[in-house]
Amino acid sequence: MRVGGGFVAELDRQQHEVAVPGDWTYASAPESRDIVHIRDRYGYFVDGEWLEPAETYETIAPRDEEALAAVGQGTPADVGRAVAAARNAYADGWSSLPGSERAKYLFRIARLLQERSREFAVLESLNGGKPIKESRDVDLPLAAAHFFYYAGWADKLEYAFPNRRPRPVGVAGQIIPWNFPLLMLAWKLAPALACGNTVVLKPAETTPLTALLFCDILRQAELPPGVVNIVTGDGRTGAALVESEDVDKIAFTGSTEVGKAIQRQLAGTGKKLTLELGGKAANIVFDDAALDQAVEGIVNGIYFNQGHVCCAGSRLFVQESIYEPLVAKLERRLATLRVGDPLDKNTDVGAINSAAQLDRIRELVASGVEEGAEIYQPPCVLPEKGYWFVPTVFTNVAQSYRIAQEEIFGPVLSVLTFRTPEEALEKANNTPYGLSAGVWTEKGSRILWMAQRLRAGVVWANTFNRFDPSSPFGGYKESGFGREGGLHGLEPYLRFDE
Ligand code: NAI
Ligand code: MG
Repeated sequence: MRVGGGFVAELDRQQHEVAVPGDWTYASAPESRDIVHIRDRYGYFVDGEWLEPAETYETIAPRDEEALAAVGQGTPADVGRAVAAARNAYADGWSSLPGSERAKYLFRIARLLQERSREFAVLESLNGGKPIKESRDVDLPLAAAHFFYYAGWADKLEYAFPNRRPRPVGVAGQIIPWNFPLLMLAWKLAPALACGNTVVLKPAETTPLTALLFCDILRQAELPPGVVNIVTGDGRTGAALVESEDVDKIAFTGSTEVGKAIQRQLAGTGKKLTLELGGKAANIVFDDAALDQAVEGIVNGIYFNQGHVCCAGSRLFVQESIYEPLVAKLERRLATLRVGDPLDKNTDVGAINSAAQLDRIRELVASGVEEGAEIYQPPCVLPEKGYWFVPTVFTNVAQSYRIAQEEIFGPVLSVLTFRTPEEALEKANNTPYGLSAGVWTEKGSRILWMAQRLRAGVVWANTFNRFDPSSPFGGYKESGFGREGGLHGLEPYLRFDE
């Protein structure tokens, strides 16, 4: 498969010798999938054992719809067993284990993830559709880094919260999405375990396989049975976990709609809750910004992981005076993105995660055209099987259009303009969300002025989509509450005897 378009970035040109001038086709460079052994059928990982599921569904590869394995559709009774196992493990030693001992398990998990990272990266790309270079270079290293980071806190909680007597909360129910399956597992498990909690985790229905493979890491690390339990299934399984009476805390990452439902359900129960929900981030480019650098940041901001990113820079605000050159550079760069097989090491944009998500992207893109925005898509040949969407830019977008307001969660950028910093700020904040934002300018004082006023949990300056386990991440407004990462990420997993 190839992406036509005729332009190749200077860097690529240096790296790849091309025999025929003007023909920029890349030879395919597939990562071997032999390293991964996928079982035909998976049960639930409860109390260190595999429980046989009564009902299963097929999990597929979005690149070609190949059925990969049968996976359990967890019932309330299955969830109940997992919660009971977590409760026993909590009472039976894990919560009273010295922090330095808990840390050893977390360090072991981190090292095992590093050792087996290629296997996990291949499986992540196969089951989720993201390019192998992203799972290899972003998801896996960051997942291991989260375990390393929180391992370091496990025996230092008293120093993190002096005079507050930090204690674990109990059993944590954790529900994660499909866009960063293993990384979200790491974000959830590492702080929970570091603080002395036990866990029942439910992976997203379309991407359960890396979580199920992770059970093998737990076995290798000799984590005591019941400390981590994994029950697969769809939203019904998640709802059963939220309803479970013996869960002390719920951590959820996913849609704002489900987040609100969970919040309503838990009101008055006294259970702790953190929600990491949707976003519609503003990426703001001032006329003094380094334009080529900004273009790379814009591309990384919205086309990274097919735009299945809650903090994606999906609304681009460009200062009017540089609008034309910037859009020209951006469209030219778009034509160089290689869309195709997630397991190909040259791929920039992989497969859309599911048929349902593809429908949602198509519907919102159609609304953009209907409402009067101008659409640009580079010439691009897509594979016949599987779920694909061409990287898309909308210009002539009004603030009122659905594509400027709703989270698309796909490789679709809406470009808007502004004249003054005040106007950029007002437009950027005019959204129900508030997860992240980006500012591109040479002027340090303007970065600080904007960062103080943008209502977003993370503000990147002259970069985008950068993550580090030591840096807290989370939202304002309908993007949720609570922080993951850093010292702040410990707090939701602790209670304090004041
Ligand atoms: P979703 O919120 O339905 O799914 C996320 C997780 O919640 C999955 O594990 C799912 O099984 C579970 N879940 C679903 N209903 C539940 C319920 N009633 N109780 C407990 N758990 C439940 O998100 P979905 O349907 O996959 O995607 C819809 C849209 O949500 C996307 O197009 C995107 O805009 C947004 N989204 C945002 C994410 C983020 O990272 N903030 C991640 C995934 C989706
Ligand atoms: Mg849903």
